[in-house]
Amino acid sequence: MSMATTVPSHGLRHVYTTRPWLAKTLRFSSIPFASLASEQAESDTTKQSNNNVVDKSSSYFPKRGQTVELVCESLAFKGKGLCKVADSGFIVMCDRALPGERFIGRVTRRKASYAEVTKVKTISPHWDMVDAPCEYASYCGGCKTQNLSYEAQLRAKEQQVCDLVIHVGRFSQSELESLEIMKPIVPCDIQFHYRNKMEFSFGPDRWVPKELLAEKNEGDKIMNYALGLHAPGFFDKVLNVNKCLLQSEPANLVLATIQDCWRDVDLELSPYNVHSHKGFLKHLMLRTGRNLNTGLPELMVNFVTSSYKPELLKPLVDRVSAIPEVVSVMNNVNTSVGNTSVGEEEYTLYGKPSITETLRGLTFQISANSFFQTNTHQAEVLYRLIEESAGLRGDGSEIVLDLFCGTGTIGLTLARRVKHVYGYEVIAQAISDARLNAELNQIHNATFVQGDLNKIDASFGNNFPRPDIVISDPNRPGMHMKLIKFLLKLKAPRIVYVSCNPATCARDLDYLCHGAAEQNIKGCYKLKSLQPVDMFPHTPHIECVCLLELCDNPS
Ligand SMILES: C[S@@+](CC[C@H](N)C(=O)[O-])C[C@H]1O[C@@H](n2cnc3c(N)ncnc32)[C@H](O)[C@@H]1O
Repeated sequence: MSMATTVPSHGLRHVYTTRPWLAKTLRFSSIPFASLASEQAESDTTKQSNNNVVDKSSSYFPKRGQTVELVCESLAFKGKGLCKVADSGFIVMCDRALPGERFIGRVTRRKASYAEVTKVKTISPHWDMVDAPCEYASYCGGCKTQNLSYEAQLRAKEQQVCDLVIHVGRFSQSELESLEIMKPIVPCDIQFHYRNKMEFSFGPDRWVPKELLAEKNEGDKIMNYALGLHAPGFFDKVLNVNKCLLQSEPANLVLATIQDCWRDVDLELSPYNVHSHKGFLKHLMLRTGRNLNTGLPELMVNFVTSSYKPELLKPLVDRVSAIPEVVSVMNNVNTSVGNTSVGEEEYTLYGKPSITETLRGLTFQISANSFFQTNTHQAEVLYRLIEESAGLRGDGSEIVLDLFCGTGTIGLTLARRVKHVYGYEVIAQAISDARLNAELNQIHNATFVQGDLNKIDASFGNNFPRPDIVISDPNRPGMHMKLIKFLLKLKAPRIVYVSCNPATCARDLDYLCHGAAEQNIKGCYKLKSLQPVDMFPHTPHIECVCLLELCDNPS
């Protein structure tokens, strides 16, 4: 379930050709840019090197398998700890190392200018240590920073955004401060049970961390079946979990109910094996929505299976449908060998085929595979910030262009106060959901169009009137250069850039504001505000809402 804050390679194709310094930096995209600068300034004093002693020369590079004493300085992309070898200052990245922690690490991988290590032993703990409430926190790939106080998590995220906007976005610290551009991160006031969607996997052989291997029932095949989350970095290893503190309480009740019975030999249920491609149960997806009349949670349980055999699922369906909050049990049948949960066929096994949720006073129907913001509570906050940034006059005269509109949620929340919304999105199903959502909310001034924004041509701007406000909410690779060039030509008075990847966000802000001299591209926007928002406590993810205004005399 983890998602990483990296600059994807295809998002860099323009960067490499136009900014050699950035290309060099981004090649080591796991290292924060600020730290890279300081890395170069490190001392080049030499010291003898052996297996456990560190060489202080600038050419010092630890060997694979070598153990080194490290201090974690900060959190970087993917929530990895950015650490320095004690004494030499050589940079290594370590999963689950936290700021201030001194520890022994073993080098697992050498990269061009840094190394990756795994933690062997903590010498002294990190600052801001708290007890992680989840029993799986040390092993599960979902929450990596549960044992870092929430305040420290927020500080680390804010720092990461600030570093990127300075070193990739080329904004100076003084302008960010004096013009009050960089806003303090907005915390999420619900730090557990905030996810409305979780996807668990079935597997034939539960993954057990080394420390707990003694607890594994080596001889008992069925007891070793797993239902849970993937071990970090492995598509074929499943950590069995009975409870996840990120999902709702009723969703945990469903998970516990299924865990309680699915291994029963009489049921003849088998987990899907991703290597042999044999087995029936692939994934269990749990979605939590809200009953529109009572405001109470309502749940969808979606079994993803390799074939359609409802009689096999019936005992599980009977058990979960007895839970009052469960209003929908679905079966997505996915016969492919891939690991996706989207089925080629979908069946309703109990109740209705979708659940409902409300956001900014609008109602949304959510089916098994619809996209919906995963933290509903914080999406309310995010969308309010977007609306505030859009600075609508409220007289119903403005045109909004909603790029990467998904199921139309942002555009629809603005539609009530503007003349017309035009939404663009690549996924056809999302566009039909957006149209359905408009209808459901009796919104008639929104047009949703399916199209690939990476493949726009010169005619793109002819399809809608010149917008007053552009909302752009791309996924992790950020905006394609074609779209950036289009926006620089379009010159809408305001752009609200919503990003789930501060690295590509910083790169795109740089293009929009400073241009790219090497490509003869002139920026014509001023960055007015950059607001980080924490949507996913205990994970490395960071959302940002940026407001750009057209310069006074754009050429
Ligand atoms: C971060 S989501 C934003 C969704 C929506 N704005 C919301 O808040 O629910 C990014 C969306 O961009 C869409 N997308 C990704 N690549 C695209 C492309 N090349 N052209 C158009 N849409 C794309 C994805 O399908 C996804 O719905």
